[in-house]
Amino acid sequence: MCGIIGYTGEKRAAPLVLEGLKRLEYRGYDSFGIAVVSDSDLWVWKKRGKISQVNPPVLRRKGRTAIGHTRWATHGEPSDANAHPHTDCRGTIAIVHNGIIENYASIRRELEGRGHTFRSETDTEVIAHLVEEHFWGDLLSAVRAVLPQLEGSYAILAVAGGNEGIVAARKESPLVIGVADRACIAASDVTAILEHTDRVVYLEDGDVATLLPSGPTIWHGGEQADRPVRKVDWDVAEVRLGGFAHYMQKEIYEQQSVFSSTVRALYAEPIPDVLKDFSGITLVACGTSYNACLFCQYLIEEYCGIPVRAEIASEFRYRTPPGGDLVVAVTQSGETADTLSALKQARMHNHPTLAVTNVLGSSITRLADYTLFMRAGPEISVAATKSFIAELAVFFYLADVMGGGRLRKSVLSGHEAIGEALLQDISPAVDLCRGAQSIFFVGRGPFFPLALEGALKMKEITYIHAEGYAAGEIKHGPFALLSHKTPVIALSPPGETFPAMVSNIREMKARGVPLIVIGDGNSQELRDIADVLIPLPDGDMVSAVLGAAVLLQLLAYRTAEALGREIDQPRNLAKSVTVE
Ligand code: F6R
Repeated sequence: MCGIIGYTGEKRAAPLVLEGLKRLEYRGYDSFGIAVVSDSDLWVWKKRGKISQVNPPVLRRKGRTAIGHTRWATHGEPSDANAHPHTDCRGTIAIVHNGIIENYASIRRELEGRGHTFRSETDTEVIAHLVEEHFWGDLLSAVRAVLPQLEGSYAILAVAGGNEGIVAARKESPLVIGVADRACIAASDVTAILEHTDRVVYLEDGDVATLLPSGPTIWHGGEQADRPVRKVDWDVAEVRLGGFAHYMQKEIYEQQSVFSSTVRALYAEPIPDVLKDFSGITLVACGTSYNACLFCQYLIEEYCGIPVRAEIASEFRYRTPPGGDLVVAVTQSGETADTLSALKQARMHNHPTLAVTNVLGSSITRLADYTLFMRAGPEISVAATKSFIAELAVFFYLADVMGGGRLRKSVLSGHEAIGEALLQDISPAVDLCRGAQSIFFVGRGPFFPLALEGALKMKEITYIHAEGYAAGEIKHGPFALLSHKTPVIALSPPGETFPAMVSNIREMKARGVPLIVIGDGNSQELRDIADVLIPLPDGDMVSAVLGAAVLLQLLAYRTAEALGREIDQPRNLAKSVTVE
């Protein structure tokens, strides 16, 4: 949520910062801006709208230090004035900020009382004015003097005209520093740094740093701090589109290798101790990751006989997990504020904790007792796809190792089902969905969470209203909405849930719904009743789950494509929700 980047080095900084912002646009895309510093001057240029729509004049500035920001509005509407960077009264100091300053209103009142003039409605602008009050030529000292006054979360980059380099500070908002050849790059995500270097330093909460072309110097609590330089194992090619129309499409098609890399890496490690001594599991997550957790609940209870609860992370504070539960926080980005808060709360109550994440060095990895990494590579599309499959991979692995190895063979060959699903022709189903105003997704057992995820994907990128239901639940109310205008996507794999699903399908068909079944391709019954039958890959539960997950993603993607939606940047959304 909001992307920030800063470059200081030997090259012209503005074009590099603009390129970096394009890489970060998935974090927010309602406005953007750049500040460029030269020996004595500071130029700021900012604009409402997407980066691709304009060619900023600030690119002509020759300074070798610049900062930039791409915004997802929290305080104040998207506008030129509210776009970052924000400056002080004299326009000599510029700040970009990711996070929220909770006490900004009272600080602003005080600053206005002391004669400061504000130009925006944002919380961030107070930082620029506070720094102004402490700035006598030493930007590091000025920023350090201001930080204790700020309540909330922040990743901040500050520059001042005539001042060398960038000052960076972090508290509960991600900030990574890339160490390149005669250049330093700071960014909210490593994806914006990979073009320059794969050597990075992850700042800790409370760190303040000066960035110069020769490298970063980091301070913590008044002392200089040593932070290790780590090598990122993501490749720059992974953050490029590489011939695909959208990142979402690219990421859907990467899922075979994502699934097998994740399970192979997990099986290669010793089983973590944290998995050996607990009486139950509470899973906490948001959005797509939460849907994966709901699936995990069915899986682990079935294969391991361990009680499992999946909790929406933002609701966790209102619940009390049973004593003795292992609390597992699942988050692709490792930065989702609600999930971080839930994990902190679990720690406060002395629960052992495990994180499942895709991002090395992310905040969740510092909080949890132990971390299991997915191997999804950078996920750029706002709609999560490959991270969902990677989360399922982690859960299949956990169910297998905690359940006595019964799933291993199926898990190790799961990627084949993904490959099969990717080859299916789903065009007739897309034709049924694209004109709909409302779509219902239904499933039973472990396929119920998949129905929820199918509906989430459909609504977020097509803007068609979609709801996921436990198939048996739909006649307890939602039936009132069914008609020939409301397609139903029914997940009906062979196995235990099949007979009850067929009954539910018949009931819905009797209400005249256009019916798409993703299910047992060998069933004559399904062929007779469905308007469109998309066969699941042959095989066991693992194959059916993976196949169904991929087919639902493809259905959402292809429907959004048919409707001409901005698939990678759906309206009102942004990747990585770092505010509660
Ligand atoms: C939906 C989507 C979101 C995320 C949610 C949690 O496509 O991407 O629902 O799943 O914001 O994100 P992470 O997993 O990064 O905590």
